[in-house]
Amino acid sequence: MPIDFYITTPIYYVNAPPHLGTLYSTVLADSFARHRRILSRSVGGLSNTFFLTGLDEHGQKIERAAHARRMSPSDYCNDMAGKFLDTWAAFSISNDEFIRTSSQHHRDIVKEAWLEMWGVGDIYLGDHEGLYCVGCEATKTLDETFVTTTLDAALSQPVRYCKVHQKQAVEVVKEKNHFFRLSKYADRLLEWYATNPIDPPEYVNEVRSFVESGLRDISISRTNVKWAIPVPSDDQQTIYVWFDALMNYITPIGGVEIIRGVQWKKSMWSNVHHLIGKDILRFHAVYWPAILMSLDLPLPKKILCHGFIKTGGDKISKSGPKQIDPNELAKIYGAEAVRYFLLREYPLGADGAFTMDMLRKKYEADLANDLGNLLNRTVVLAVRALGGKVPARPAIDSHDDFTTAGDAILAISTAEKHWDTFRPSKALEETWKVIHMANVYFDRHSPWRLAEAGELDELAQVLGMVLEMIRRVALLISPAMPRTSIEILRQIGRPIDIELWSSGSELEPRLHGGATLFGWPGGTMSHPRPLFPRIAK
Ligand code: MSP
Repeated sequence: MPIDFYITTPIYYVNAPPHLGTLYSTVLADSFARHRRILSRSVGGLSNTFFLTGLDEHGQKIERAAHARRMSPSDYCNDMAGKFLDTWAAFSISNDEFIRTSSQHHRDIVKEAWLEMWGVGDIYLGDHEGLYCVGCEATKTLDETFVTTTLDAALSQPVRYCKVHQKQAVEVVKEKNHFFRLSKYADRLLEWYATNPIDPPEYVNEVRSFVESGLRDISISRTNVKWAIPVPSDDQQTIYVWFDALMNYITPIGGVEIIRGVQWKKSMWSNVHHLIGKDILRFHAVYWPAILMSLDLPLPKKILCHGFIKTGGDKISKSGPKQIDPNELAKIYGAEAVRYFLLREYPLGADGAFTMDMLRKKYEADLANDLGNLLNRTVVLAVRALGGKVPARPAIDSHDDFTTAGDAILAISTAEKHWDTFRPSKALEETWKVIHMANVYFDRHSPWRLAEAGELDELAQVLGMVLEMIRRVALLISPAMPRTSIEILRQIGRPIDIELWSSGSELEPRLHGGATLFGWPGGTMSHPRPLFPRIAK
């Protein structure tokens, strides 16, 4: 099956281990990949999805981090790569490939692209004079910096700091560099923005005004950075780390020539979706598409932009008191709960606060109470009163059931639409409406009384309705909480449904010969187990 959904995360700098912010990017992309895989498998296809993440290993920042630990850059990167891989495995990240920019394959592809752009006259040698922030690995305009009262001892000038990395002084760069003719592509970039490639759409304003204010060519090489890819045929210079990093997205496909020449690879590339944080929008929505234009390759289908997770008003970052190790959160709440929290709490594009208290409250309310209790009380009753066998319940026969099923189907299809449009937080909100409906239905029908009264047929009917809602919920949460989804399906005796998506249209005919609406297909249950145990305070 051709790849019609290619999703990428930013590749992470390895100057520190993963933190909650980088996990957020990765979990978002993972949920999108899982959603698309399920969609195609549920109609009997193979996976149509390719999910790429990895590490940005070159450049001054990494060179200095390695040096500070008295390690060679490559030993240092190997060490950090292990930390990323372990964390991603703990959080069930399902990437198809893990790119490391120091690999030979990637280095060859970057050089190939450089030569292509050189060949069409888009790279030239010029004089570079500017302010450079090693934290951002980017040149800064005066407006993007601020001065303090401290004087630079050598120059007797005030020290300038980058507004993003406020503790890091910017460095003055004055050297001969290779430049990319970015200015040439301004009009085509503006035309591209008109096709709505940026999501949420309001983010386009920032890049549009940047382009409209007059694009200048950018330096794409450096003379004093050793831990980088050498410029082909210029042994005095190495390639700018962002040029190298952006190219990671084409490396798994095989490079420029192959994308241009092999139809299915070109079509895979045409379906690329870059998920990024809002701080790196300019690189992805200005520099990268212009580089692709120069290479005569299709432009990304979507740039999906997320906001920042903040503590005490600041962005969580790799250094200082704001760093939060997701592995520590997983030790308390489990990785699935952390995934849920990240996807539910922060609507795509918006910034949001993080506190331990918020995570604990969400865990208790949404997971332990709403979902966990619903499953547990349903399965416990089914096991106790019906020996775990809840037979198929093909038809909706009462008015109450009809209304509940109708409301549930509406919420389910709304949730699915939100998954289709990359809005997991809204999708989960709708899913929790179904959980709420199931809890209300359970209470309204008091099935424990039916058990006490020995009205077992009626009990099976009520439990069948609740179980069908739980089953749909289990399918709907699978992009967000894949292990929980499997565990719920196991507990309700439907492990076989794991390859399905929640919507009725494909699901029902396969399970019930097309005969029913919202019918529980039957299942045998045993060994109920609390999904989200109470956590001691
Ligand atoms: N290496 C570059 C990306 C190159 S992509 C070709 C980079 N790396 S990074 O490690 O600094 O950041 C990676 C991603 O993590 C960015 O999208 C950034 O927005 C995201 N986050 C880092 N801290 C974050 C928060 N506190 N909150 C949400 N996301 C944040 O930039």
